[in-house]
Order: sequence, then structure tokens, then C-alpha cells
Amino acid sequence: MEHLVSVSDLTVDEVKELLQAAEQLRFGDQHIRPTTQTFVANLFFEASTRTKCSFEVAERKLGLDVIPFEVSASSVQKGETLYDTIETLAAVGVNAVVIRHPQDRYYEELLNKVSIPLINAGDGCGQHPTQCLLDLLTIQQEFGGFEGLKVTIVGDLRHSRVARSNAEMLTKLGATVYFSGPKEWRDDSLPGEYVELDEAVKYSDVVMLLRIQLERHDRGQHAVDHYHERYGLTVKRERLMKKSSIIMHPAPVNRGVEIADELVECERSRIFKQMQNGVYVRMAVLARALQLHKGGMNNVAFNQE
Ligand code: CP
Repeated sequence: MEHLVSVSDLTVDEVKELLQAAEQLRFGDQHIRPTTQTFVANLFFEASTRTKCSFEVAERKLGLDVIPFEVSASSVQKGETLYDTIETLAAVGVNAVVIRHPQDRYYEELLNKVSIPLINAGDGCGQHPTQCLLDLLTIQQEFGGFEGLKVTIVGDLRHSRVARSNAEMLTKLGATVYFSGPKEWRDDSLPGEYVELDEAVKYSDVVMLLRIQLERHDRGQHAVDHYHERYGLTVKRERLMKKSSIIMHPAPVNRGVEIADELVECERSRIFKQMQNGVYVRMAVLARALQLHKGGMNNVAFNQE
């Protein structure tokens, strides 16, 4: 079963294959379609604009039938478990589920039990594998590869699933990952050195900013005073960046906090490019999960009667 719940599930070769498939889909070189009617459902237990909408666009571009599913109007409200929800969807003919959930590793208990592929669209502070893949695609388009690149990830590291997924995979791909941000939001489990932002902007090829995830902060945790001036990408810091360097942010963006308002759409910003790439990466991930590129859906419950 081709679940995708963490970037740890993927080898470097598999990442390269997914990025190549995403590029082929972007250029229209590959037309993947299911051989029989194929249904997917997107289960979002947390708010989302980019991930939910780009999965839905990806699904429709692939010719998949998207089953509307709103957690707030579903039997989750009557206490139905996540496992029972997935198996109910499988029983009525859904072939794969995309899930975002506030609980870290919500998928752990499900992987060996569910009968349809599960794609993780973000779990708490855990992993965001499709965000990582779209970030990698954006970096690859810019620099042609990852070996030797310097990437500095800045901000609310402890609460960021994007930082976790990107640091792990970028390191495997040969980039050097640095971190910067307030001491109180550091995470020593992340693989990389902590650096001063004023210096890092001068040598980084990629400055990747993170949203402050207030919804994941403990009650009573104090805001960091003067965040933008101390830890944000100000216009002054942007002027220190190399000509070839780019700015990334998974978004949503707090304009004027992580990044100056006028930099969000500046020449070196790839923030909206990242979103565009999300559609093609998610098409590639769905095709892999449903084995569409092999002309079928061999692994899904629908065909196992
Ligand atoms: N980057 C990201 O995951 O955005 P959404 O929360 O809007 O999906």
C-alpha cells in the first residue's frame, strides 16, 4: 500500500522520481488517468486553504471523483473514530484518503489496518510531506539540484511540520540546513546548526520563513516582542541576500511579521510559485498512491472483493 505519511517513507530516488513526475505533469508531457472510476476524499480536521484546494485541483486534473467530506457535518461529530471513518469511506467505494489532523502521528495506529492509501496533508507539529516535495520542486527549478546549497529555515521551528520535513529531506539530498529564530522556539531534534539571521541572509541560497503557529503554542506562552525586527525578513536584511538567492514561505503569511509586506511578492520571492508547484506534486503523489501510472488501482480495497 503506497501510503505517504512522512518524508521518512521516501528514499532519495523516490523523491527524485516524484519530482520528475511532477515536472512532466506541469509541462503536460504525461497524461495520467485512472482506468476505472476512482474516488478520493479529503478529510481536513484542521483549517487549510493551499493544501486542501491544491489537492482538490490535483484530483480533478487527474480525472478522479472527489467526494465532498466536511468533518463538521460528518459522523466524526457523533464520535466515530478515524479508523472507522476511513473504512466507511472505503466500504462505499472511496479509493484513497487525504488527511490533515492536529494530532502528531495520528496515522501511526492506522497504517497497518486501513484498506486504502492514506496521504498525510499535515499532522500537528509532525510532518507535511507534500509541502516538502513542493518546496523541493521549487528549489530544484531554481538551482537544478540540492547538493551544496545552503538553506536557512527561520522562525517557529518547534511547532513547524514544514521545518521537520524539509530539514530531513534537504539534508538527505546534500544541502546544508541552518536554523534561526527565537530561543524559546528552538528544537534540538532538528538536524542543523543555529545561526544569526543577519549573517545567514548573506550566505544562504534559500531563506525559508515559517509562520508563527499561535494555534500550537501553550496557553500563557508569551509572544516574542518586536519579532519582525529581531527575527523577520526585513527589507534591510533582504538587501544583504545574494543576487541569486530566493525567499520561500509555506504560507499563510503573516505580512509584516515573518516577512516585510513588500517582500511577499518581490522578485526573489517564490511564495506563489510554491503554491503552483503544489498542484503538480500532489498529482504525482496521488498517482503513486493509486498506482495510476501503472494503469490501475491494484492496491485499493475497491478491487479486492
Ligand atoms: N502551507 C500550507 O499547508 O497551507 P494551508 O494550511 O493553507 O494548507
